[in-house]
Amino acid sequence: MIRFRSLSSLMVFFCILGSMLAFFTTPITVQIPFSYFLGGDHRQALEVWTTKRARAIMVESLERRPDGTLVIEMTPALRAHLAANPNFRYAVFDIQSGSLAAGSSEELASHFRHFLVDAEVFGSLFHLSGDADARSRGYIRTTKTRFGRLTTIVYGCQFHWDDLLFQLQAYAIPENLFSYLVLAFVLSVVAWIVVRRGLSPLRAAAATIASVDVNCLNQRASIANIPTELVPFVEAVNAAFERVRKGVALQKRFTANSAHELRTPIAILRGRIEKLEESPVKQDIERDVKRIQTILEQLLVLAQIEQREGELSPPEIDLRETLLHTTADYMPLALAANRHVAFEAPKGPVISSAYRWAVESVAMNLIENAVRAEPKGGTVLIKLTEDALFEVVDHGEGVSKEYREIIFEPFWRKSEVSPGTGLGLAIARELITKLNGRIWVEDTLGGGATFKIALPKVVRVGVSTRLQLSDA
Ligand SMILES: Nc1ncnc2c1ncn2[C@@H]1O[C@H](COP(=O)(O)OP(=O)(O)OP(=O)(O)O)[C@@H](O)[C@H]1O
Ligand SMILES: [Mg+2]
Repeated sequence: MIRFRSLSSLMVFFCILGSMLAFFTTPITVQIPFSYFLGGDHRQALEVWTTKRARAIMVESLERRPDGTLVIEMTPALRAHLAANPNFRYAVFDIQSGSLAAGSSEELASHFRHFLVDAEVFGSLFHLSGDADARSRGYIRTTKTRFGRLTTIVYGCQFHWDDLLFQLQAYAIPENLFSYLVLAFVLSVVAWIVVRRGLSPLRAAAATIASVDVNCLNQRASIANIPTELVPFVEAVNAAFERVRKGVALQKRFTANSAHELRTPIAILRGRIEKLEESPVKQDIERDVKRIQTILEQLLVLAQIEQREGELSPPEIDLRETLLHTTADYMPLALAANRHVAFEAPKGPVISSAYRWAVESVAMNLIENAVRAEPKGGTVLIKLTEDALFEVVDHGEGVSKEYREIIFEPFWRKSEVSPGTGLGLAIARELITKLNGRIWVEDTLGGGATFKIALPKVVRVGVSTRLQLSDA
């Protein structure tokens, strides 16, 4: 069994097969029923095939004797036809010599002999007026045979169903084959075009579906212009996305609620630990609890942006002021770790559309990472440009090319012994993406890592404002 993966090929294949069946069975599926229902004398249609078949059998039985005379031999086919049609009579008349072939029915020929000398009959159905059987039909025709131009006459055959088989066989002549090829070609081209055009809305729907990911679960494929047969499929895909969206929202709510619920017991735990006597074990427990607290805070930051999804665009904030505050807040911690932090920004405000708490959270994590990577005594630089692009530059070991994407995966840390949890950069990317920005890492000139963040810049034009993302 042939299997087609392409619908166009399938349609073309069935057009060829279907048209072949329809075309070559036309004599019995169309022509005969048509003449039966519309043609009045329905027997005429059937008798045309009957007489044609009788004539073909008779012509096949013709032989020329050595003396040059023509004879209709009693071949097995002719004998069988005579047995099936007791009134079958036949004659072959040679126009040139004016003689009858041996084996011809003299009586049948006598009806035509007088005008066959002067007239050439191309083909005619007839009934002998003296015949008592009103249904009897005959056929007379002058055509080219393998023995030259001859006039053949057959009479008295009755219709038999196997005459149809003869007609089907006789229909497969080169002219008909050629007409069929043209028909099959035209049908195939039409089928191909119809399938391609019919499925083009599905390609548009596929493009929409391809853009769906866990951060963008609100996209739905449009069913406008989709062929009716495919609408249930597209609706099922949309419904599946809706279920996934609800499931993801439920999970996010659960995470956010869990993080929220855990905040108080952990704060209490910290308070209790503080009351314990100083010891190495106390320090270890304090560090562990602090880490748990950091993870919780990060999860809450994520939950916060999820909750704001669907809101109108974030407010306009001054990145210069926001980053300056974050840098200043971190300065004492950096100094305590024997590192410096420098801030470089344009003189005036740099306006972006973003949540202040989100920018602070991302900047804080990047500065913390950079200070951790920076060699003792070195300076971490926080640089903001007019285009709302900010960079956190350190001079540590840097991030090799192979890790530049994986570094943004949740819980990824280069070394298990490093103090973090591996969530900071994953959250940073999540937040920045939600703010329609971009975050990535490059090398610092001379060694180290430079994390870059591009946020949508708000350009003030008169009273209206316009958003623009730097493509640095
Ligand atoms: N500036 C940097 N230079 C070199 N490696 C870095 C730098 N920043 C991050 N990394 C690597 O990327 C890993 C992931 O950083 P990320 O901020 O996501 O998590 P973390 O700092 O380990 O923990 P968390 O931020 O959740 O407290 C770090 O553990 C570190 O191996
Ligand atoms: Mg970090």
